[in-house]
Formats: sequence, structure tokens, C-alpha cells
Amino acid sequence: MVEDGSRILSSVVSSQMATHSKYGGVVPELASREHLRAIVPVVRAALEEAGTRLDQLSAIAVTQGPGLVGSLLVGITYAKSLAMVHHLPLIAVNHIEGHIHAVVSQNEIELPALALIVSGGHTHLYEVREGFVYRLLGRTRDDAAGEAFDKVAKLLGFPYPGGPVIDALAPFGDAHAVRFTLAKMKGNTLDFSFSGIKTAVLRWVEARDMACEIAARRSLVDPTIEQLRAMTPQPTLDLLASFQRTVIDELLRRAVRSAEEIGARSMIVSGGVACNTGLRAAARARHLPYPVLFPSPGLSTDNAAMIAAAAFPKLARGEFADTALKADANLQLC
Ligand code: KG4
Ligand code: ZN
Repeated sequence: MVEDGSRILSSVVSSQMATHSKYGGVVPELASREHLRAIVPVVRAALEEAGTRLDQLSAIAVTQGPGLVGSLLVGITYAKSLAMVHHLPLIAVNHIEGHIHAVVSQNEIELPALALIVSGGHTHLYEVREGFVYRLLGRTRDDAAGEAFDKVAKLLGFPYPGGPVIDALAPFGDAHAVRFTLAKMKGNTLDFSFSGIKTAVLRWVEARDMACEIAARRSLVDPTIEQLRAMTPQPTLDLLASFQRTVIDELLRRAVRSAEEIGARSMIVSGGVACNTGLRAAARARHLPYPVLFPSPGLSTDNAAMIAAAAFPKLARGEFADTALKADANLQLC
């Protein structure tokens, strides 16, 4: 529940991680089933926490895409019925625009801004101009950065999601111990590619006898970071630290170059990977001539407050959806 586009009255997130971690990644059918189970209690809790009733709202905002179509459908169907029953306008929001507004809602942003959106599904660079007009500058050609974190963690026997685990273990390794050679980008040099580094990690593992080490980690049920650290030898910790440093270098190098190209007056970094402490520290250490703004950790990963925040400019413009609104798994921002 968000007031005036910036005041978050409540933010309720129902995590499905425990369900998906058993399978080493998100299972789409389980995701939509869990959404269906959670949506009514989550909306009720958000109203209670904010001390609001549905008939006091100005509008209902909902994610149209991009995302898993089954989960999007659950949200859209429920939002449509709430809007209809309570005679409220319905506002369709792009998931990526939500991540951008997680930062916009908490900061004074000077435009134009460069937005780096890094999540499990996206690694995109956008120019953000006055009136929230967007231009795509670069994107990943294969894996998203979060996906690379998750896949590397999985192949080494670490639990899902891999991003927070690698983030927590990386400080125990030498970030310069393993050197990865990355392919030169042909065409748009602001595009990213993370499949090469993932394959390099796989080759590193294959060149060593790690089967027992990996199996031992896989056999743990809900391990703590301390447990994982205790059963991870130094060379593997060095590999994790080096992997994370390489991904961060790639992200920041292209983001900084894009920001220079558009004459950015601020940089927005958002999406699940924006939680990464190494990324936050590396951005700070660069002492860039403009502010680099991250959401508070609770607003970095997927949440409904950022979707409500992103709906406010549309509410002001009277940009409403109707009952014909359809989920779009590949919805583009621009
Ligand atoms: O934005 P998000 O919650 O969902 C998507 O839209 O994808 O992002 C989830 C992704 C996962 O890949 C997860 O591993 C990654 O964000 N992530 C992290 C960290 N926390 C979450 N990656 C690196 N470091 C973190 N601390
Ligand atoms: Zn997201």
C-alpha cells in the first residue's frame, strides 16, 4: 500500500523460496499455485498493516509483465475483480518499471538517469528521461546476472537462490585468485553476456576432483552460511569471490559507460542483484560524479510496493487498464 507515490504504508511479501529451493530453481506451476494460495491473505495483511480499507483506495495497481505467465494471471485476475467490485481504476504496471520506482519512490532523482536493472530475469540498461520515458541502451544476450549467480551456485552444490549465498561467502575468498577471460562483445558494446563466465566456472570444476565436496553441500537441509563456509575449501571460496567480482566489474563498467554516453545526472541500480553487498561497495568505491542510488534491501527483490509506486504517474495521467487487460510474459518497457 503506497500513498502519494512515495510513502509506503505497508509492504507484505510472501516468499516462495522454501518451496522452490527443493528443486534448485523456480518451478512455474508451483509458483502460480503458491500465488493463488497467498494472494488473498497477502492483500488482507497489506490493508491491515496500512490501516486502510479497499474502498478508501484511489486505484489498484497490478504487474502486467514481464514474468511467469501463470503468476501474472493470478495477480491480474484478482486485481480485476477487486477493481470491479470496489469501483476502482485498474493500473497496469511493467515489472521493470516497478524496480525503477523502488528507487524513485525513496529518493530525489535527477534526470536523465541511467537505470541498471539486475535480477533473475533481467540485466538491462535504460535511459530514464523526464516524464518516465525510457530508452533501452543495452541488455544481456543470454543469462541474466541473477541467473548466472543462481546457476553457478547450483553447479557447486549451494542452495537456491544462489545470489545471497555467493554474496555472503565471497568476502572469505580472494577475488583476484581466478581470472576469467570474457569474450569481446560484437555489435552493441553495452550488451552483457554471462554464459561465458558460467561455462568457465563449469570448466574449473571439471578440471578438479570436486564431486564429494559438491555432494556434501547438496546433502544439507536448509544450511546456514556458517555451515556452508565450514564445508567449503579455500579454492572454492576464491572461485566464488572471483566470479562475483567479475560479474560486478562487468555490470558497473557498462553502466558507467552508458551513464557517460547519456550525460546521466544519477544512476539507479535495482532488482534482486542490487542487494549484493559487493556491488554496492564497488559502486561506492568508484566515487562517480553523480549519485548511485539503490533501493533499501527490502525493496530490491520483487515486492508489490514498487508496483504501486510505479502506478502513481499513470494515476496522475489517467492511464487506466480495463477488463481486457492481459498478462504479457515478455512485456517490453520501451
Ligand atoms: O528481482 P528479483 O527478486 O526477481 C526477479 O525479477 O528475477 O531477483 C531475484 C534474483 C535471484 O537470481 C537472486 O539470486 C538474486 O536476485 N539475488 C542476489 C542477491 N539477492 C538476490 N544476487 C546477488 N547478490 C545478492 N545479495
Ligand atoms: Zn523483479
